[in-house]
Amino acid sequence: MRSIFLLGFLSFLCLDCARASRIPGLPPVRGLKEYQEQVVIRFNISNAQDAAALRTVVDRMLLDVWDFTESHVDIRIPNQRIRFLTRALPSSLLDNHSVLIPDLARVAAATYPSRPSLGQSPHQFFHQGTTPASQDPLKYDITDVYFHNYQPYPVIVAWMRLVDSMFRGRGLVQMINIGKSYEGRDIPALRVGIRLDQVASGRRREIILVTGGVHAREWISTSSVNYVAWSFIQSMDKDPVVKKILERFDFVFVPVLNPDGFDYTWEVDRLWRKSRQRTKMSYCPGLDLDHSFSYQWDSEGRQQEPCSGSYGGEEPLQAVEASQLVNWARNETKNGFKFVGYLDLHSYSQQVLVPYSFSCQVQPPNIENLQEVAMNLAKHLRLSNGEFYTVASACGGSGPESIGPFVEARGGSAIDYFYHELKTRYSYQIKLRDTGSYGFLLPSDNIIPAGEEMFQAIKYLGDFLLGNNGHEWLQESAGDEREPSTQDDEL
Ligand SMILES: *[C@@H]1O[C@H](CO)[C@@H](O)[C@H](O)[C@H]1NC(C)=O
Ligand SMILES: *[C@@H]1O[C@H](CO)[C@@H](O)[C@H](O)[C@H]1NC(C)=O
Ligand SMILES: *[C@@H]1O[C@H](CO)[C@@H](O)[C@H](O)[C@H]1NC(C)=O
Ligand SMILES: [Zn+2]
Repeated sequence: MRSIFLLGFLSFLCLDCARASRIPGLPPVRGLKEYQEQVVIRFNISNAQDAAALRTVVDRMLLDVWDFTESHVDIRIPNQRIRFLTRALPSSLLDNHSVLIPDLARVAAATYPSRPSLGQSPHQFFHQGTTPASQDPLKYDITDVYFHNYQPYPVIVAWMRLVDSMFRGRGLVQMINIGKSYEGRDIPALRVGIRLDQVASGRRREIILVTGGVHAREWISTSSVNYVAWSFIQSMDKDPVVKKILERFDFVFVPVLNPDGFDYTWEVDRLWRKSRQRTKMSYCPGLDLDHSFSYQWDSEGRQQEPCSGSYGGEEPLQAVEASQLVNWARNETKNGFKFVGYLDLHSYSQQVLVPYSFSCQVQPPNIENLQEVAMNLAKHLRLSNGEFYTVASACGGSGPESIGPFVEARGGSAIDYFYHELKTRYSYQIKLRDTGSYGFLLPSDNIIPAGEEMFQAIKYLGDFLLGNNGHEWLQESAGDEREPSTQDDEL
């Protein structure tokens, strides 16, 4: 009965969505930043000198760097500034650049739902008019409508409440709150497992955490977290492996870790990346949550600039949302839970990234196991739909000593924090689709296939952790004197 109420509630919310909806190809509604006369260009790079030159110019011009890898750099730039950029670059770079996205305004507008996501009947939002709410909720086909479009924050929250109300009675799902954002929004999560209602029953308490929406504009990460949550719930009765995994582990799915920034991408600026927290420069708000965690925070001592897209704040955990996640996770640890797996979903470039992020010079103690599982994650991602994902270190590869890594240092990342501070043996950042055709502006017909390949990969991870409890490194190291020596002496 409650779910009928919630369906009504959702339809009410979606009248709001209707008002905010946009027609692809037309300028978006008043108030939304339009990105007319802007493009995304890619520079191929083949050596560290080119990378350093590009980094310097891009930092000076405060350009929006979309991707910075060992082989290429993607940059958003207004057309009229291109000549200022090229004037400052070595000729080898000039010969090797191409336009990835020539019409940014249209591509950005097309990512918003083209029609109100709600049909005439409120029920249509979730299942196309067949199953009455009183029947088996597992027969609902939420994928029909919900996953055809990206959804705004209020609809995501309402959807999570609905899923909670459908399955809480079976002890399978709990909607929980990780904490509150800087602007006071909830950071909601779905906790999924079998017998959640019997926490005190003495079963092993282990958590696999999956986060998305750390960077506001990476919408495919948010939709994928929800899609994977839904897939686990829905296949529990059909798939014995999923059942086994959920009997053993609690999954905690956090689709929007950065709700303020996410909401801002819907209302004001589709390409906003950071949170919306005040900084010491009032005209440059926002902290990069993935530079805000307290392990090896800002390890390079880089002069941080609030207007930069990767500004991590003045001190570790200054970003409210990062600090709330840490408080919640530490509390879970205190309550006897152990984080055995962590997947932080981002976009784009189709990569599985392995700790550490803060430095290429330090290797995690269980690096071989981390890489082996990363290769298997990439394999299961590919086996679903044929999309290739590569495996790399999150530090971004290293250039010559004199220049340092090709990519900026990435201290204070979430995966390093969980790996090192909470001893989460399998901690990864996964950059989802695509490889640059649309970048952050991935069309919504990718939501289901991208979610599906992520589900297959996470199912693999659960299965792997079932086999050896995710503790094999501790067991190995107990009797293995050849353990690689690292600076991680406490591990
Ligand atoms: C870039 O162009 C130069 C010619 O100016 C060429 O020698 C070099 O191999 C190119 N590099 C890449 C990465 O394509
Ligand atoms: C950049 O590199 C890619 C892959 O190596 C290649 O296909 C493309 O043509 C290159 N673009 C330019 C402008 O050199
Ligand atoms: C810590 O966990 C307990 C038990 O789940 C909960 O009641 C409490 O609210 C949590 N405290 C915080 C600060 O999250
Ligand atoms: Zn990201």
